[in-house]
Amino acid sequence: MGKETVVLAYSGGLDTSICIPLVKERYGFDRVVTVAVNVGQRDEEIAMATEKGKNLADVHYTIDAREKFVHEFIFAAIRANGLYEGYPMGTALARPLIAEEVVRVAMREGATTVAHGCTGKGNDQLRFDFIFRIAGLEVIAPIRELNLTREWEIEYAQEHNIPVTVKKEKPWSIDENLWSRSIEGGRLEDPAYHPPEEIYAWTVSPDKAPDTPEIITLDFLKGVPVRMNGKDMSGMELISTLNDLAGKHGIGRSNMIEDRILGIKAREIYEHPAATVILTAHADLEQLTLTRQELAFKRMVDDKWAELAYMGLVHEPLFHDLNAFIATSQEKVTGTVDVQLFKGSCRVLGRSSPESVYSGELASFDSAAMDQTHAIGVSAYYGIQARMIEQRKRK
Ligand code: ARG
Repeated sequence: MGKETVVLAYSGGLDTSICIPLVKERYGFDRVVTVAVNVGQRDEEIAMATEKGKNLADVHYTIDAREKFVHEFIFAAIRANGLYEGYPMGTALARPLIAEEVVRVAMREGATTVAHGCTGKGNDQLRFDFIFRIAGLEVIAPIRELNLTREWEIEYAQEHNIPVTVKKEKPWSIDENLWSRSIEGGRLEDPAYHPPEEIYAWTVSPDKAPDTPEIITLDFLKGVPVRMNGKDMSGMELISTLNDLAGKHGIGRSNMIEDRILGIKAREIYEHPAATVILTAHADLEQLTLTRQELAFKRMVDDKWAELAYMGLVHEPLFHDLNAFIATSQEKVTGTVDVQLFKGSCRVLGRSSPESVYSGELASFDSAAMDQTHAIGVSAYYGIQARMIEQRKRK
């Protein structure tokens, strides 16, 4: 008697596809259930995964998790100004959600083992395993455990009638969701190599972008965007519209040396047009609506939030605590930001908010609202300790 059912997180790519015969041949399972989770990949990508899953596995599920991805993960990242080492995280945000959906299918199918196609070098294995192990499931990861090479994989796929789409000339590993697209592998692994134009799919080269700037207006409500150019939009609609628009203006490319969880440095290319615009506008609106103290403290919170989110530790108690702080901080982050999109850059032109902590009366050169003589007393004692020490040194 075999080992029954295993539920596999499935993308339709080479690694996860060869896992289907591998878990039967090498691990002795009788039945493979594949799960593809739609977090905003291209439609063709989801269609391809669905078709391949149906052909190759015993049972296949395609789950549309886009709404959940936007509301529970992307919105949280916007509130937290979610940048890891300077770029807007994408893959990291989606992995816990994909894992949760796989767990749900495992429960439904009565499976006690789940599988994924991650290698032993990257972050995704750890992000998946964390969620799977919380659910008390056994995890198998054939690519990591059998130490397979690309060449072996391609040959094995061909023997098992699995269509292979990775080509020698275009060996990029791509991961895509509504928030970002990541491209790695092949010659990009040389940090000195200049990324060729062909790897980009969401953004045009800034020098090919339109010669006329475009100004858009984003309205935020409690830290998340709800309206674009005066039109109410769902998060999903707003983000995909903005990906097209800002991508057309060449906005949102990153070319990184990134520190992975295990400490390995990796060369990574990303595209994230909507994320760049939304995060830029959001941070600007915080600058208008939060106090200096809140801003300074929140920068530390945001940094820690990003580190934990990158590591996939979304059930770390500290992560929940940080989210609680971030949620209250965002009560006031409501207002409007005008952003100019032009040849790869996104610049805030103006902002306004009913929660503004800015007083034109106080700051203006032309106003008498502040009695300037009050500053004389402040100035008299300003930096008093440092002044004493410095004066002593100069004697
Ligand atoms: N380095 C990024 C991250 O860890 C992107 C990984 C992309 N994954 C992939 N399988 N292509 O978040």
